[in-house]
Amino acid sequence: KKQLKKTCLDMHALACDYFRGMLGSPAGKDAREYLARRTLAAEMVDGFSLGCSDEDWQGLQNFLQKKGFSPAQAVEAGLLSRNDAGRTYDRFRGRLIFPIHDLAGRIIAFGGRIIKDGEPKYLNSSDSPIYTKGEHLYGLYQARPAISKSRRVLLTEGYVDVLSLHQYGFREAVGVLGTALTADQVKRLGSLCREVVLVFDGDNAGRKAALRSAEMILAQGLTCRVVLLPEGQDADDLLRQSGAEAFAKLLGQAGDGFTYCAECVRATGSAREVMDFARRFLRGLRDPAWKAFYLPKLAENLALAESELRQAIASEREERPSGNNPVGVKTQVKNLPGLPI
Ligand code: UTP
Ligand code: MN
Ligand code: MN
Ligand code: MN
Ligand code: MN
Repeated sequence: KKQLKKTCLDMHALACDYFRGMLGSPAGKDAREYLARRTLAAEMVDGFSLGCSDEDWQGLQNFLQKKGFSPAQAVEAGLLSRNDAGRTYDRFRGRLIFPIHDLAGRIIAFGGRIIKDGEPKYLNSSDSPIYTKGEHLYGLYQARPAISKSRRVLLTEGYVDVLSLHQYGFREAVGVLGTALTADQVKRLGSLCREVVLVFDGDNAGRKAALRSAEMILAQGLTCRVVLLPEGQDADDLLRQSGAEAFAKLLGQAGDGFTYCAECVRATGSAREVMDFARRFLRGLRDPAWKAFYLPKLAENLALAESELRQAIASEREERPSGNNPVGVKTQVKNLPGLPI
């Protein structure tokens, strides 16, 4: 098992060399032009080890074979795919390649953005012995020194959002990578910071994801704030169009995550949904002792009677086994809202 992981890591390191080499070669011309169109700086390309793949169906396969790795091994590592006829082929073709690092700086997976037209826009590595979707965060390795200093994370949706934020000086930026934020990811963040600032896209999907994410972050005892981006823009769009100061201003105005949740729920929810949210929120808190802190806050922000809320959760306690943890996080995160670590 250990040997298998080592083999996968070795293949990923080699694949990264292959993709980077291609970006610097004649075959990387389209990718270089694409990077220039998006004004991604060379410093980001190097710092995040970006690469590219051409349209070749066998390029990485041949490269890895020359280095002594069989196609079957590369399939298991998630670097090659296999068709119904059993033929193996390069998974990433015609894409700008974003390596995903673990906290030790080792490459454990890749994301790839289509350079021309085609679907899907982004393709990620499948799960492998060294990579589980929803466990890692894009850019955490690079952002870690800045996060350790400020104890704050800027959490975005996309690869390019992370790169652009770093390029414009916001070096605490990391990305969730398409999927919904998971408890594992929150746990990971909780061990490094005490505040998560959500910088999700200014569209319905982004606002919905922010609501769900804020709830999870607060449940773990981290503080949370929400940046409201202009309609239709993501962090990368805003920085390119309006610059670092415009983003800094929105960051300064970012509201409290709890208030954001409460307002969203009040605006969209029926009385029943409001109560369901309050109950779910209280039930989700990692430490039941925090109920005393949040109960009056919920009552006030949701215009509920505190007594009604107390009654609702009291009756719930009888229905449910105690110690129920809907978020499923096992590790202790030591910080409470508003308290220094
Ligand atoms: P977006 O659709 O907002 O893409 O998806 P983006 O990051 O702004 O992409 P650009 O600016 O057009 O290059 C946000 C994130 O969701 C994941 C990717 O991680 C993407 O960065 N995603 C999106 C996928 O995994 N697959 C997709 O097909 C699309
Ligand atoms: Mn892992
Ligand atoms: Mn989006
Ligand atoms: Mn974008
Ligand atoms: Mn986007």
